[in-house]
Amino acid sequence: MDDLLSLRQSFLDEISAVSEIAELQQLKVRYTGRKGLITGRLKALSTVPPEEKPAFGRAVNELRDFVEQSIEDTETELRKVEKQKRLLSEKIDITLPGRPLKAGNIHPLNRILDEIKDIFVFLGFNIEEGPEIELDYYNFEALNIPKHHPARDMQDTFYITDDVVLRTHTSPVQVRVMEKKRPPLRIIAPGKVYRCDADISHTPMFHQVEGLLVDDDISFSDLKGVIELFIHSFFGKDTPVRFRPSYFPFTEPSAEVDIGCIFCRGKGCRICKKTGWLEVMGCGMVNPRVFEMSGYGPDEFSGFAFGMGVERLTMLKYSIDDIRLFYENDLRFLMQF
Ligand code: FA5
Ligand code: MG
Repeated sequence: MDDLLSLRQSFLDEISAVSEIAELQQLKVRYTGRKGLITGRLKALSTVPPEEKPAFGRAVNELRDFVEQSIEDTETELRKVEKQKRLLSEKIDITLPGRPLKAGNIHPLNRILDEIKDIFVFLGFNIEEGPEIELDYYNFEALNIPKHHPARDMQDTFYITDDVVLRTHTSPVQVRVMEKKRPPLRIIAPGKVYRCDADISHTPMFHQVEGLLVDDDISFSDLKGVIELFIHSFFGKDTPVRFRPSYFPFTEPSAEVDIGCIFCRGKGCRICKKTGWLEVMGCGMVNPRVFEMSGYGPDEFSGFAFGMGVERLTMLKYSIDDIRLFYENDLRFLMQF
């Protein structure tokens, strides 16, 4: 009986030191497992004198019940504590301010491209596309620029083979569209173009928007009307516009379009080189040779075409003085738009 008392005491000492479920499990095995201390006492029952057996048996059973109950209670308690700890460690402070998501921005060139497209779509133009890797035929020959023609020097070309180039302008789309469709035509062709050119106002890749309108009886005044309408929607109603005679092999007559310098309001400054005017695009009446190359009769239709530099228009609209800023991906620049 003394032995049982000291066993009970050592159990109490041990269980009060337990702080984890795993330890508790070991304790349980040590006392009530098949080879456990209490089970051992029960086996020893046969060695007890017969008259003490009932009392001893009851005492061992009591001790076993007590041990099992204590272990169960302690386990419940430990599980509660562990859950509490976990909840505390997983606690989220919902009063903290959220982390702002960094939202992207539309690139200024895409913003301006969208604006240009909107104006022409409003005027009834459709949007067409052509390949950036282009046949020499479409980029030059079909536009009335034969091989060895001096006009090829106007554009520094990246040649891939003798017959394949990176397109130097969006004008080849004119021919591709006319080969497939009959007038009336009213299209714009925005896209990337490439020239071996790099300085503060030229990059080797830049964007143009081509325009082409073909129908019966289209005259230069139609061209002027459409371009003026575009300039006034894009730069504002009081922007002065002038058409200056120029030369392109694929238009005749040809002109370059200038707007009154928006920096000095026409007084003359560094940016407009003291002229008061800034060039924004090339244009003209489609050369009958181009109609012929595209499969139309030379006297069947008339039409006009124009081509504008998107970087140039964006720089004017936002007063940007270095074209390379568009392609450096400096967020301090890009996030301003
Ligand atoms: C042309 O490319 C003609 N295809 C435009 C045209 C179309 C005329 C239809 C008549 C009829 P030009 O080479 O001038 O023309 O280029 C047009 C515009 O592209 C220029 O006004 C300029 O704004 C822009 N540009 C030319 N080279 C570069 C460059 N390296 N970097 C950025 N913009 C450029
Ligand atoms: Mg030019």
